[in-house]
Amino acid sequence: MTKIYKGTHMVPLNILQNHCNNKQEIFILKSKYMIEKIKESMGEPYYEKEGFVLYNENCIDFLARMDKASIELDLTVTSPPYNIGKEYEEIISIDAYVKWCIQWIDLIYKNTKDNGSFWLNVGYLEISDIAKAIPIPYLLWDKVDFFLMQEIVWNYAAGVSAKKFFSPRNEKFLFYVKNQNTYTFNLDDVRDPNVKYPNQKKNGKLKCNPLGKNPTDVWQFPKVTSGSSRSSKERTAHPAQFPLSVIDRVIKVSSNEFDLVFDPFSGSGTTGIAAHGNYRFYLGTEIKQEYCDLTIERFERYLFEKKKSNDTLF
Ligand SMILES: C[S@@+](CC[C@H](N)C(=O)[O-])C[C@H]1O[C@@H](n2cnc3c(N)ncnc32)[C@H](O)[C@@H]1O
Repeated sequence: MTKIYKGTHMVPLNILQNHCNNKQEIFILKSKYMIEKIKESMGEPYYEKEGFVLYNENCIDFLARMDKASIELDLTVTSPPYNIGKEYEEIISIDAYVKWCIQWIDLIYKNTKDNGSFWLNVGYLEISDIAKAIPIPYLLWDKVDFFLMQEIVWNYAAGVSAKKFFSPRNEKFLFYVKNQNTYTFNLDDVRDPNVKYPNQKKNGKLKCNPLGKNPTDVWQFPKVTSGSSRSSKERTAHPAQFPLSVIDRVIKVSSNEFDLVFDPFSGSGTTGIAAHGNYRFYLGTEIKQEYCDLTIERFERYLFEKKKSNDTLF
């Protein structure tokens, strides 16, 4: 039985934890170098602090500029607009939507290191008179140069309730890599400790890895909920925020400390906070200024909470 994770804090506690030793100092030192390098080729960002760099720009323009620069991405984690009429998007034809996705994914591919990965979170869209809920992976999976490792099902409990069809309770992550032989995959860092018989042995040896089991390709994490009585603590005013706990797992497994993590549809900055909490540098771009502003407010609040939590520890 897969463990159900509860999003009960503004950020998962492991993300708040220190930064207590000289790793924090190394992180700050290296981040200065990283920020300078990014600024040299990409220009002044909207915001920068401690290895967290945010641009307020259309990701296509941004990526096209990056293509000429010397910045290489270790990991991209993102959730683009789904073409379903949210407040930050205009519905376009399916053909145009697929073309647009191919355009920015191709640019990410060009700017990704050989051992890098690309995690794409997508849901469903409607095609009138044809389908109510087409899984977006059906439209995109083979249209890009990345190698598709697998599809992860992200299952959650809360959501829309339906009467004439089954209530939707999943989204997908397409896990792509640039090179199927050399990609980063830190399984031990994301093992699930919830093992039923941890002491079971075979020929005197433990049957299960003491760090836990492989978390499988079906993940259960609560969605970021809204509403006056059931709103998640990490909820911001952004209408499509993904939960920090899911992105925390993706970042741990598909990147290493001091790597560069990118999100071209930065939204409320979830990828950035999960990256920073794991000593990774963050580069994000977001087209809407109001979301950039709420990201900055959220990131500063997270830094404050982190400092407070570490001050009480030492
Ligand atoms: C699904 S949301 C991402 C939410 C994000 N994962 C989070 O946790 O907050 C998509 C975001 O992409 C932004 N966006 C839409 N088109 C864009 C573009 N061309 N370039 C950059 N950002 C864009 C939207 O404003 C929106 O914030």
